Amino acid sequence: MSLSDYRKVLVTGASSGIGEAVVRRLTSHHLEVHALARRQDRLSELASATGCIPLALDLRDTDALYDTLQSTEYDVLINNAGLGRGYDSLAAASREDISRTIETNVTAAIHVVHALLPGMIARRRGHLVNLGSIAGLYPMPTALYGASKGALHLLSQGLRMELKGSAVRCTEICPARVRTEFFDTAFDDPTKAEQAASGFELLEPSDIADAILYALDAPWRVNVSTIEITPTEQYIGGIYIEPVGR
Ligand SMILES: NC(=O)c1ccc[n+]([C@@H]2O[C@H](COP(=O)([O-])OP(=O)(O)OC[C@H]3O[C@@H](n4cnc5c(N)ncnc54)[C@H](OP(=O)(O)O)[C@@H]3O)[C@@H](O)[C@H]2O)c1
Repeated sequence: MSLSDYRKVLVTGASSGIGEAVVRRLTSHHLEVHALARRQDRLSELASATGCIPLALDLRDTDALYDTLQSTEYDVLINNAGLGRGYDSLAAASREDISRTIETNVTAAIHVVHALLPGMIARRRGHLVNLGSIAGLYPMPTALYGASKGALHLLSQGLRMELKGSAVRCTEICPARVRTEFFDTAFDDPTKAEQAASGFELLEPSDIADAILYALDAPWRVNVSTIEITPTEQYIGGIYIEPVGR
C-alpha cells in the first residue's frame, strides 16, 4: 500500500496552516480530499482553488462528528486540527483554555480516529497520520499543550501495537515551530505571538506536507512511525539547572 492505493482522505484543521498545505499537496494527486474545519469561508476558497470537498464542522460537537464522518469510506486520516490555548502557563490559563485545548487536541482527535478506524480495519486499507509536536516528546514549559500532545504520542504508539496484522498504518508527525496561525490563536497578546514566530527561520507548512506525503507514499512494508522535524536553527536538548543561591 502506498499513495496510489488510497482514494479518500480526510484532513482535519484544513482551513489554515499545515492542514491547508496538506490539502493543497494531496489534491494534486489522484485523491478525493475532504477538508474539515469550522471556518466555512476559508474552506470554500480552498475548495475553489483545489477541488477538495469542504466539511464545515466543529470537532468538539461529538454527535455531529460521528454523523458527518462515519458514512464515508476514508482510506487516510490527517488528524491535524489542534490549538494551544494556555500555551505558556497552566496557572494563567482559563478554564475555557483548558477545555478547548484538551477537547480539541485529545478528545476530538481520538473520536475522529474512532469514527474512521473500524471501516479501515474491515477494508484492510488505511493510514492514520496524527499531528503531534515536539512538545509531546520532550519536557517544555508548555505543560497543558505538552500534556495534550503527549497523549497523542502514546495514542499513536499504542495504536501501532493494536493495529498489528490489520494492514492499517499509523504515523505521528512531531514538528517544532511552523509558520502558521497557531500562535495567533494561542496568545491573546499579539507581541507574544510575534515573538514565537520570529528569531529564526521557521518551518513552512509545506515542509510538513512533504513529510506527510513521504509517509503516505512509502511502500506497504514501511510504516513511518514517528517523524520529528525542526527548523535548522531550533534545537532540542540541553538541561536547565536553577542558578546556585536562588
Ligand atoms: N505551528 C506550529 O508551530 C506547530 C508545531 C507542532 C505541532 N503543531 C500542530 O499542528 C496542527 C496544525 O496547526 P497549525 O500550526 O497549522 O495551526 P493553525 O493554522 O492555527 O491551524 C489549526 C487548524 O485547526 C482547526 N481547528 C481548531 N479547532 C477546531 C475545531 N474545534 N473543529 C475543527 N477544526 C478546528 C482550525 O480551523 P478553524 O478555526 O477554521 O476551525 C485550523 O484549520 C495542530 O495540531 C498543532 O498543534 C503546530
